[in-house]
Amino acid sequence: MTDAPIATGWVDCHAHLLAGVDDGPQTADESLTMLADAAAGGTRTLFITSHLDERYPWSAQRDDDLSRAFDRLLELGATVPRCPALRMGYELAPRPGTVEFRADPARWRLPGTDVVLVDGPDDIPMEHDTGILDYVDRVLAAGLRPVVAHPERRAFLFPGDRAFADALKTKGALLQVDSGALLGFDGPAVEAEAHRLLDEGLVDLVASDAHEPGEGDLRPVHRHLRQRIGDRCESLFTGTHLEER
Ligand SMILES: [Fe+2]
Repeated sequence: MTDAPIATGWVDCHAHLLAGVDDGPQTADESLTMLADAAAGGTRTLFITSHLDERYPWSAQRDDDLSRAFDRLLELGATVPRCPALRMGYELAPRPGTVEFRADPARWRLPGTDVVLVDGPDDIPMEHDTGILDYVDRVLAAGLRPVVAHPERRAFLFPGDRAFADALKTKGALLQVDSGALLGFDGPAVEAEAHRLLDEGLVDLVASDAHEPGEGDLRPVHRHLRQRIGDRCESLFTGTHLEER
């Protein structure tokens, strides 16, 4: 695992590419296609952020499984032209009382950064939503910065709730919006909330949150944002906000 500064170029800080370890790809062929998608799309650094959540809790066995799967992904990447630099990370669902919640948040830091990717709101399973604000505090107290994934999904269940994203920003969390949400793949309520967050300047990062072939190419969402907000979109892709403070 490298701790070197991240390379210049587009950074995708949230993607599921390890075969058979979570709800991402299930076969090596799918992983390979997703690497090719990211490479073709111009991603230069790709964080592989496997789930630690209700469905896939941390254990020593899971840790071994993820490490082995990441080694296999590195082997696949060696065959992909212009493959992004791959870094192994986690998307941590903040569930109070669990081993991963109580662990030093530095354990879950994205390599080469001072950020921890915190699984954000969702429609299902939702069990960890109540822990998000507490875990944000925990990450900040450890001297790290929380990146909260897909805050726009709050609109699945609480359309019009502006307080949640505001509370996250006030605490000092970075907000990461999914490319699919901006492109409308998660439905109109989530799409509208993603754009509301963007228009109000609350978004720090755009990531693919890719789970399957076709989702790891950032060019479509970049085109969409160029048309919508022009140059202001560039820093959402370049990893500027991930550079260690
Ligand atoms: Fe994810």
